[in-house]
Amino acid sequence: MKRGKVGILLSGRGSNFLAIHKNSIKKESNFEISVVISNKKNARGLLKAKELNIPSYYVSKKGKTKQEYEREIINILKKHSVELVCLAGYMRLLGEEFINEFKNKIMNIHPSLLPSFKGLDAQRQAIEYGVKISGCTVHFVDNGLDSGPIIIQKAIEVKEGDDEEALSNRILKEEHKIYSKAIKLFFDNKLEIKGRRVIIK
Ligand code: GRF
Repeated sequence: MKRGKVGILLSGRGSNFLAIHKNSIKKESNFEISVVISNKKNARGLLKAKELNIPSYYVSKKGKTKQEYEREIINILKKHSVELVCLAGYMRLLGEEFINEFKNKIMNIHPSLLPSFKGLDAQRQAIEYGVKISGCTVHFVDNGLDSGPIIIQKAIEVKEGDDEEALSNRILKEEHKIYSKAIKLFFDNKLEIKGRRVIIK
């Protein structure tokens, strides 16, 4: 079976990357990770990719325009024939050229039930707001912040006495499951975008 090629962009810990990797090496998987790119030299995720012998690159933004920086990343992704870009804790907003280059082929994972609590520290935002249910979302990436069409969501109860860490840990466990599910659906050609909606065929 031909496996779909995934490119990972990350900036930190890389637990979502590792969960995707774990699923990708299963016999029945329909995707594989072709390349990992980080904008942070010492990102744990990048070091893990090296250990796993996955082609990995550090691309610094320093001294480059956003366009030059993103061109460099696009070229690496193309060199590795990437068909789907997965943002996994990548802490920069993508520019228009990047998004157009991989139109409807970029996913992100966010630790809240979007459209609630976009941006940074979503789990803390949820606790401070006092919601009783939060969760995580895998969505396609568009020009806005955490605003693209939603693919999968998983709801998680906010428990009395939860602090940011406790809630984040419970959400993260589910993130690790739904991201790979969304990638599998993508390469099974089961995702159809209709306006804001993603239809699972
Ligand atoms: C996750 O909580 C993800 O939802 C958010 O950034 C965090 C990345 O964690 N976008 P990790 O680097 O995958 O461990």
